Amino acid sequence: MVTIRPELEADRAAIFEVNQEVFPTDAEARLVDTLRAKVAPTTSLVAEVDGAIVGHIFFSPVTIDGVGGEDVMLGLAPMAVREKFQRQGIGRQLVEAGLAACQRASVELVFVLGHPDYYPRFGFQPVAALGLHYTDPKLDVCFFVKELLPGALHGARGTVSYHPAFDEAFKGAHGTEPSS
Ligand SMILES: CC(C)(COP(=O)(O)OP(=O)(O)OC[C@H]1O[C@@H](n2cnc3c(N)ncnc32)[C@H](O)[C@@H]1OP(=O)(O)O)[C@@H](O)C(=O)NCCC(=O)NCCS
Repeated sequence: MVTIRPELEADRAAIFEVNQEVFPTDAEARLVDTLRAKVAPTTSLVAEVDGAIVGHIFFSPVTIDGVGGEDVMLGLAPMAVREKFQRQGIGRQLVEAGLAACQRASVELVFVLGHPDYYPRFGFQPVAALGLHYTDPKLDVCFFVKELLPGALHGARGTVSYHPAFDEAFKGAHGTEPSS
């Protein structure tokens, strides 16, 4: 039985461990701690099984051509489910609950850099045809957006950037991107 709920302060060490377990380095785990301090309040949910944290999803503000950075446009990253619990639909529940929480918080757009087979399942669409781009346009094929407020994409054009803490986190780490 899986419970999806907002993170509590007492969950922070367990969230760190979940991210540390599934990524090659602890860059994502540390990034979550940094972002919490820099962009709070934000959306961060955990998946709990038998009282243990087995999954986590995090959202933080993004900008388009340097504009934004508030809570109306968010990026989904990182997301993690402990290896033993993967492929049981927990990731799906985290994404769905995360998007619902964003909607309740009046978020208008959610971006994600991730697998092309996965995110369209949740109504994400590729950015490129919309005139939006990831900071590295080579990765546009893996970059998606979901409109939570109908019409929010109207007139949205430009380059979407995650919080500068992402660049800091991956400098000298495994060179990854904020993919989810
Ligand atoms: C990505 C992740 C959170 C998905 O969690 P999960 O609980 O296994 O997800 P679900 O059970 O809802 O969905 C699993 C399905 O999504 C697919 N999927 C999910 N993420 C994927 C990815 N990055 N690449 C390829 N396929 C992916 C799986 O192949 C599987 O498909 P299937 O059921 O049709 O075989 C988990 O695999 C994970 O923690 N991976 C390591 C960390 C990571 O890559 N995070 C994303 C980058 S931030």
